[in-house]
Amino acid sequence: MAEQTHECWSILLAAGRGERLAGACAARGAAAKQFLSWKGAPLWWHSVAVLASVPLMHGIVLVFPPDLLESARREAQILVERRHPGVPLIIQAGGFRRQDSVRSGLEVLPASCGVVLVHDAARPFLSPALVTRTAAPLLKRNDIDGVIPGLPLTDTVKEVSVTAHGVLAACTPDRTRLRAVQTPQAFRADVLRLAHARADAEGWEVTDDASLLERCGRAVLIVDGDEGNRKITLPEDLEMLRENGEKQPCCGWGYDVHRYGGIRPLRIGGISIPCPEGANLGIVAHSDGDVLLHALMDAILGCMGGGDIGRMFPDSDPRWENASSSLMLEHVLDKAAKSGIRVTHADLTVIAQKPKLAPHAGEIVRNVARLLRLPLGHVNFKATTEEGLGFTGEVRGIKAAAMVMGLREESGAWREECC
Ligand code: CTP
Ligand code: MG
Repeated sequence: MAEQTHECWSILLAAGRGERLAGACAARGAAAKQFLSWKGAPLWWHSVAVLASVPLMHGIVLVFPPDLLESARREAQILVERRHPGVPLIIQAGGFRRQDSVRSGLEVLPASCGVVLVHDAARPFLSPALVTRTAAPLLKRNDIDGVIPGLPLTDTVKEVSVTAHGVLAACTPDRTRLRAVQTPQAFRADVLRLAHARADAEGWEVTDDASLLERCGRAVLIVDGDEGNRKITLPEDLEMLRENGEKQPCCGWGYDVHRYGGIRPLRIGGISIPCPEGANLGIVAHSDGDVLLHALMDAILGCMGGGDIGRMFPDSDPRWENASSSLMLEHVLDKAAKSGIRVTHADLTVIAQKPKLAPHAGEIVRNVARLLRLPLGHVNFKATTEEGLGFTGEVRGIKAAAMVMGLREESGAWREECC
């Protein structure tokens, strides 16, 4: 078995004009079908995400229409920043026909590329398993130069003659000898380059790359295709991109500690808590030191991959000196809303030896629910001691933990940012 000595790259074809879908795309503000917004990203990005997730993939060449190259480049930059595909992306201008776009992509493939997968951005439903199934045989076998996915036909197919009397059935090929083929199609890069050079020299017109290898007498293996790997071509195919407004659940966890013996009056969940006689439960803090709201904010930031409150409200910033944590929470909720996240439930725990918090639980829940704009049953508050152990047990400080559930809606922000 030959060792993998060369890298595997992909050429993602997104340089078509999508003429059969032009009207529907214009109505949705997309220049062509590969730029339609789906699940918070342009259609072409979904293929990038799948191709890049396959361990054997080293990089991807993205081929865009020449007149849309700059806007597509900006779109790609934003998506790379937000989603990090983890492999290099090279952007290239396509050509007039699909095969011209492939050729153009081949020109910028690095010399280290030994196997290249050519994939249509109009097939956004490809699976990582299909990518691996298509690429892997070329890395293991020397007797083939290409691998393509194919599906047996279920319909009987006719060869026809188009005549003045109409389209006439000419003959019926044996269906068992036919396959409907898809992309990605994998090839040895040097063989595909030669095949394209020959096609150019001899004026061959093809609709896929495997046909070029067939004409060159090269062996192309057909592996099982994937029924789900459909191509978006006609207006009725847009049904496959229909979004049902489905939101993804997300959750976050937060934790905070404050030391007693400070000057800030004790506040928990935005409520002033009276200090038992003889104890100094004043809080040491830069802001108002509401340990519960701080844990809650960290949990919300956790939901959205937003870091922590230390980063959002640095101690060094005088704006947050004695700042109201309720106000800081408002900023965090605003940030969450901009990320398409709505908090749906919060479970909050304060750990303190003193003061006794049970008498304040109802008020804390009501206030936090008000701040989160949630029904009362969607906020839970618990208080516990640590049985006299540790710093809470010694009444040197107080801590809080928060668990938050939310729903995330994919936003189309990538488009607003790049247009
Ligand atoms: N493609 C390309 N360059 C071209 C033509 C097509 O990169 N000059 C790409 C398309 O972007 C698509 C894939 O090849 O991802 C398959 O082509 P097809 O489904 O025919 O797309 P379009 O050519 O864009 O659509 P239409 O034929 O309706 O104009
Ligand atoms: Mg086309």
